Amino acid sequence: SQVFLNGDYMPMADAKISPMDRGFLFGDGIYEVIPCYDKKLVGFKPHIARLTDGLAALEIANPYTEQQWRDICLTLADQNPEPNLGIYLHVSRGTDSKRYHAYPDDIKPTVYAFTFEVPTPPVADISKAKAYKVALEQDLRWQHCNIKSTALLGNVMHFQQGYKKGLNETILYNQQDEITEASSSNVFIVEGNTIKTPPLDNQLLPGITRLLVLKVLRQFSEFDVQEVTFTKETLLAADEVWITSSTKEIAPVIEVGGHAIGDGTIGKVWLAAQALFSQYKF
Ligand code: PDD
Repeated sequence: SQVFLNGDYMPMADAKISPMDRGFLFGDGIYEVIPCYDKKLVGFKPHIARLTDGLAALEIANPYTEQQWRDICLTLADQNPEPNLGIYLHVSRGTDSKRYHAYPDDIKPTVYAFTFEVPTPPVADISKAKAYKVALEQDLRWQHCNIKSTALLGNVMHFQQGYKKGLNETILYNQQDEITEASSSNVFIVEGNTIKTPPLDNQLLPGITRLLVLKVLRQFSEFDVQEVTFTKETLLAADEVWITSSTKEIAPVIEVGGHAIGDGTIGKVWLAAQALFSQYKF
């Protein structure tokens, strides 16, 4: 496939970076994953706004304007003809000849982007939807989970714990037993007519799918939509649980930590939410 590296487009096999890149040595960088269906980007502006915030938090100058980022995404989508793509953007602090912890002030960021195929987005149809079963663990990551850092070892280890048991994700709770997010997704629950997701803070990524789901539900549905804290006991007792991300949209969860959610089948509120999301996501 064709990729982008530091201003040029090339086959992936030709993309080379130094082993002294701080992205490689320290995980010192920021990334994004932007969905792209038939060359249409989902949530492009908020994805770039989050990338900009992450770079500012790391004191890395954003190498491109929003329009330049858009051109990179659309050029890659043109060069990689699969209809359902994730576009991965990565900015690391760049290559430093010494491995020294302090931020060097005279280096250029490394910018890499590639595309990967994602499944066809879920259609709002209970008989066709993938029902997720997930693990439940205490969140053992760091305290800057709002930053979309390329240093993902904590997330990878949590995901693997679920994966080893044949599960699709791992939902996380903090030391107060409050749900934060999942290893690569945000979390929603449904209680009757109420839809809840944890409020944004340093314990979770401000997911763009989360943002778009909240917006679509508030604009086009009658559900009571709340950004509030809830515990793992509340989650286990909920009628429905969903996880959201750019690569899965809204995924219905039927089992958490070995406990069935609701009656153990995909719920009707998921159906309504995914139908609205499918209709209004662009
Ligand atoms: N993951 N929380 C975490 C820890 C994530 O890594 C992600 C996304 C999300 C959902 O964010 P969004 O809706 O913006 O995709 C929440 C991406 C897709 C990944 O790492 O591949």
